[in-house]
Amino acid sequence: MRALFAGRLRFFDTTLRDGEQTPGVSLGPDQKLEIARMLADVGVDVIEVGSAAASEGERDAIRLVADAGLSPEICCYVRALPVDIDWAVDSGADSVHLVVPVSDLHIEKKLRKDRDAVLRMAFDAVEYAKERGLVVELSGEDASRADQAFVAELFAGGVERGADRLCFCDTVGLLTPERATVLIPPLAALAPLSIHCHDDLGFALATTVAALKAGATMAHATVNGLGERAGNTAFEALVMALERLYGYHTGIRTQRLYALSALVSRLTKVPLATQAPVSGEMAFTHESGIHAHGVLRDASTYEALPPELVGRTRRILLGKHTGSAAVEAALAERGYHPDPPRLAEIVRRIKALGDEGKRVTDADLLAIAEAVLAIECAPVLSLRQYTVVSGSNAIPTASVTIRVNGEEHTSAATGKGPVDAAIEALRRSVAGVGEIELLEYHVDAISGGTDALVDVTVKMAKDGKMITSRGARTDIITASVEAVVAGMNRLLRDTDT
Ligand code: KIV
Ligand code: ZN
Repeated sequence: MRALFAGRLRFFDTTLRDGEQTPGVSLGPDQKLEIARMLADVGVDVIEVGSAAASEGERDAIRLVADAGLSPEICCYVRALPVDIDWAVDSGADSVHLVVPVSDLHIEKKLRKDRDAVLRMAFDAVEYAKERGLVVELSGEDASRADQAFVAELFAGGVERGADRLCFCDTVGLLTPERATVLIPPLAALAPLSIHCHDDLGFALATTVAALKAGATMAHATVNGLGERAGNTAFEALVMALERLYGYHTGIRTQRLYALSALVSRLTKVPLATQAPVSGEMAFTHESGIHAHGVLRDASTYEALPPELVGRTRRILLGKHTGSAAVEAALAERGYHPDPPRLAEIVRRIKALGDEGKRVTDADLLAIAEAVLAIECAPVLSLRQYTVVSGSNAIPTASVTIRVNGEEHTSAATGKGPVDAAIEALRRSVAGVGEIELLEYHVDAISGGTDALVDVTVKMAKDGKMITSRGARTDIITASVEAVVAGMNRLLRDTDT
């Protein structure tokens, strides 16, 4: 049988260079090192840390990563200029990603030069870098819109002068998988070839895979698909597509993929797209009755991958699409086993909440179940008062008084803002009965305007148990306090019983 790929596929991670070019993103040296360590741990082959010529901070970052003794090749982006290559050498990089424009559009409009000048610059730069002991990946920028005879001339000449690898850049995401199948083979015959795709029309992953099938042996990618405009090929999706769809063992530690995505999202401050493959919040979440029912019987009915494979867990949300199987399973986890008519009533009330456009939290589910099952549950905790002081000249400070198991406690705390202070004061006031952790805080304004109803959802945990709860008020602090008190009540009650 013919092998699907030409050889071992390698991963060139450009999160710290092309990913950092996402508008608004800037990473310091320590942050780049933290991400680089994780990339190394996950198993990428090359890490492009940045451009040494760009700034002192970039040089510090490349030096820091190069000195960390990580196993991947540490690469520095350079233009075909001796000064850039000197900076790369000074920074301790193993290799350079040497980029020259190859389309006439870029050569004439951007560079204001001609093809001969580009060839001369590129060849001189390859020789200059090789004389300094660097591994050279010679990249043709905008190759998908270039005259392919010129790309081949540049690449062949570059290899003659010592380039170790070549890279075909689909700079604005206009290459199709079908064209990649035609354009890649002659270039891949010259030297090991990388493919670098952008996602302007949503084709980056498909085109990257097509290029790999056509003979490219290294894929450029970024974590979470970060990058200019619509971004680059997303690393985590590419790895899982190769593993799952093509049965190719990438050697990447896939169980660490979600942790990597979360780290990059936290440090770049670019939130994960809710529905992104692999790492999006909803990628392993089910709500509709038919899907949840199927997944509860056999997860593969509605899941492309087991979530554990990428370091995630499955979630079943309740809402207007929920069916009785999901509700029954959620209640069973809490020790409730309603008979069929009562279960049907609980489902009806959950759907009614969903119909009002509300997220159905765990606290809602339990409140509904207890009402339908006529279970009397006195709250463990009740709020007596809260006071918050905030302003341009004041450190946000909150005090709360709550009654826990019949005893009154008053606590105070400061915070980054009034909500933060109020939640911290609440946490302190229950410290005597348990350590409660706030895992997530989410706020929606239900209508526009400054008098909008604010819907706050929180996720909290105690001793490994998790709960979601909600508060809805026109005042964001009161809504937050209400959500936290409701969740605490549930967590403390679960501990009591
Ligand atoms: O997309 C691109 O063409 C690039 C090059 C600068 C390598 O990122
Ligand atoms: Zn790019």
